[in-house]
Amino acid sequence: MPKCRVCDSTLHEFLDFGRQPLSDAFVRPHETDDEFFFRLAVGVCGSCTMVQLVEEVPRDRMFHQDYPYHSSGSSVMRKHFQQTAQRFLETELTGPDPFVVEIGCNDGVMLRTVADAGVRHLGVEPSGGVAEVARGNGIRVRTDFFEESTARDIAGTDGPANVIYAANTICHIPYLDSIMRGVDALLAPGGVFVFEDPYFGDIVEKTSFDQIYDEHFYLFTARSVGAMAERFGFALVDVERLPVHGGEVRYTLARAGERTPNPAVAELVAEEVARDLASPATCARLAERITHIRDDLTALLERLRAEGKRVVAYGATAKSATVANFCGLGPDLVSHVCDTTPAKQGRLTPGTHIPVLPAEAFADPYPDYALLFAWNHAEEIMAKEQKFRQAGGKWILYVPEVHLV
Ligand code: SAM
Ligand code: TMP
Ligand code: ZN
Repeated sequence: MPKCRVCDSTLHEFLDFGRQPLSDAFVRPHETDDEFFFRLAVGVCGSCTMVQLVEEVPRDRMFHQDYPYHSSGSSVMRKHFQQTAQRFLETELTGPDPFVVEIGCNDGVMLRTVADAGVRHLGVEPSGGVAEVARGNGIRVRTDFFEESTARDIAGTDGPANVIYAANTICHIPYLDSIMRGVDALLAPGGVFVFEDPYFGDIVEKTSFDQIYDEHFYLFTARSVGAMAERFGFALVDVERLPVHGGEVRYTLARAGERTPNPAVAELVAEEVARDLASPATCARLAERITHIRDDLTALLERLRAEGKRVVAYGATAKSATVANFCGLGPDLVSHVCDTTPAKQGRLTPGTHIPVLPAEAFADPYPDYALLFAWNHAEEIMAKEQKFRQAGGKWILYVPEVHLV
């Protein structure tokens, strides 16, 4: 029986995507024999309600020198992180000589604003390539995994942090116990640990099953995060729903008793209980809807192929690895994927080996249909690619169900 990574109780498996590659392991055309696969399955803890992967991928296989995801690739996300930094500067970082640590700072998209304001900061980022980009942007970065030992070391050299922040990173880290002990060692009295990650409530609502992949080890809810925080002497004192990346929640943790929880916490927990979010029945229904989406999407793409239509994909997202591999989408159904990330271009999508081409290839010439893998950036992408639809092209989306736009 698999066990919960947080509380060691029994984990109830409800979803199995089968053999899946690493979502960000875009392969060179001559290296397709050497791919790493694991079983992508999801379970829910019968005790603390934490939704999590059943199998863990070794962290160095995912986060290394060549980790291809650059956070600054989206203008919406650049703005989001600029506003996030600005808010910290105006609230938590107003005391004498404040200090902020970001776990998983990537290319420095958030800390850039903090550095520009002259505020003391440190990014902790194990992926050497993106850490180097952040350093080039004038940001102080330690190329390392954040965990208890790293945190103790930082506390010793830089002193306590008023804010520890992480976006789209804490859900990537199975060893939450070490993270929480590290946060406790590094956080100043009265300080906050703030993190934002994809929200399981949105995944259930939108059937956005592509949020499930190797890097997203946990799919958080307010209830499971609150329970986790309590185990380590912390309390969940605020939650804020965010529209980015298909629906996220920003969680604020403080040491137990230090801050009065915002009523929004109890409200969101009550909503989750009313929705029966972590129950076996809800999880089983999610699994059923996912199977329908897979069947609808493959049927549509097979029909378009039979009709001789040109179909490409847009956005070589990590998320799309689950969709492509689970639905069996190879270059026979989707000729190529267009993506702005230089590190992904010229490579093949993990497991399914669809060639990744630069964004400019999209208009050269426009396809008949474009499968929008980066649906979380739909507004931004559709706005800049208006000519595609004017030329008669159609977008294919599969969240919350398969439909054309
Ligand atoms: N914060 C950025 C954002 O929201 O766009 C980057 C998110 S990216 C999906 C996840 C990042 O977490 C990667 O850059 C990865 O290298 C980093 N990461 C993974 N494990 C980590 C750990 N234990 N400590 C610090 N960073 C970690
Ligand atoms: P994400 O969903 O994890 O943020 O990944 C988005 C991917 O889509 C990333 O590889 C960059 C790519 N992308 C484009 O190619 N064009 C765009 O306009 C945007 C916003 C993203
Ligand atoms: Zn548990």
